[in-house]
Amino acid sequence: MIYKIYAYGTPVLRKIADEIDQDDPELSSMIENLYETMYKSDGVGLAAPQAGISKRIFVIDAEPMAEDDKELHGFKKVFINPVIEDERGEEWLYNEGCLSLPGIREDVKRKAEITISYYDENFNFFEEKYDGMKARIIQHEYDHLEGIVFTDRLSPLRKRMLKKQLLAISKGKVDVNYKMKFPGN
Ligand code: NI
Repeated sequence: MIYKIYAYGTPVLRKIADEIDQDDPELSSMIENLYETMYKSDGVGLAAPQAGISKRIFVIDAEPMAEDDKELHGFKKVFINPVIEDERGEEWLYNEGCLSLPGIREDVKRKAEITISYYDENFNFFEEKYDGMKARIIQHEYDHLEGIVFTDRLSPLRKRMLKKQLLAISKGKVDVNYKMKFPGN
């Protein structure tokens, strides 16, 4: 099942998402649907709140970016109840986009390395370190579980310059080839 992508302005994107129960009967179908929705919309990551589900899970498949960054080859993973334990290293800029904010791409500053703990689809626990683009994608998706979108991380000036564009997105004035849910529809 393909979910609608919730647009900037929908309240679910601003919530702190809830932990997932190990016995959640919908977990495996949700994982499948998140992947399906992400592939359909040509994303490399998708967090459940972007599908209107306020739960702490995101999926990543960075294969489309592996041509430019070989490290990303095979980087396909689901993160359940993740916790970023530590972020360190120098901040670096990368031009990010988000399926919930179509048409906007901005340079976002993030720290270079992270340590993250999480559960996989079988509820095995992991603690791992990531850097480079892998860390970047995780940090972006993790933000969604905390009610944060990437434009929140821009300077006040950049944010002001994007205000109209963000308002237009929240009013449904977008041109995308995937189904979206807007505030009030
Ligand atoms: Ni996003």
